[in-house]
Amino acid sequence: MSVRPVGISDYPAFKKLFCDYYAELDCEEDPLPLFDDYLLPDLKAGLFGVGVTEVDGEVAGFVIFQIDDLLNDWNFKEGAGDVRELYVAPAFRGRGLGTALLSYAENSLTSDGAREIYTLPVEECESFFIARGYADGGEYCADSDNKVFVKYMDKSDLK
Ligand SMILES: CC(C)(COP(=O)(O)OP(=O)(O)OC[C@H]1O[C@@H](n2cnc3c(N)ncnc32)[C@H](O)[C@@H]1OP(=O)(O)O)[C@@H](O)C(=O)NCCC(=O)NCCS
Repeated sequence: MSVRPVGISDYPAFKKLFCDYYAELDCEEDPLPLFDDYLLPDLKAGLFGVGVTEVDGEVAGFVIFQIDDLLNDWNFKEGAGDVRELYVAPAFRGRGLGTALLSYAENSLTSDGAREIYTLPVEECESFFIARGYADGGEYCADSDNKVFVKYMDKSDLK
């Protein structure tokens, strides 16, 4: 399976998956204006990266990642890599796509200079990240009400 940067032709499928993700996680915020007014403009401005994976021509999952910076609307740990969102459509789970998307984000962040990568997983997903080298860093993010999970990378982690 392969992961590639999201392209313009993927935007409709990416938008649908993003809305499904919000619905599944029971987020109160309306994802449509969030996608159109914030996410897409910031993506076009290069403020974060998005990787997508396809199964039989269908976009099946995405990962959103950035190096935290003053320019980003989210800047919790300046200079650290941040896996902001990770989602695989339910029909495609359990076949390695989530792991591949996460590795793609980690590789990209590491080659852009990040040595610390963090994520703010919902509680049900903490074990997914622990199994992939993340650990509870002992920090708490009050804005999102999540524990902060951290993984330290070095150049030898580049795949
Ligand atoms: C988490 C998620 C991305 C995993 O995607 P996936 O394609 O099923 O992942 P993989 O196939 O690479 O890995 C599956 C492994 O993760 C485990 N896993 C999947 N979802 C999990 C979850 N919610 N909690 C804990 N473990 C989970 C599976 O049991 C499996 O374990 P194994 O490798 O020991 O067999 C997917 O379940 C998802 O999109 N969940 C909803 C959104 C979400 O919670 N995103 C996380 C950001 S907070």
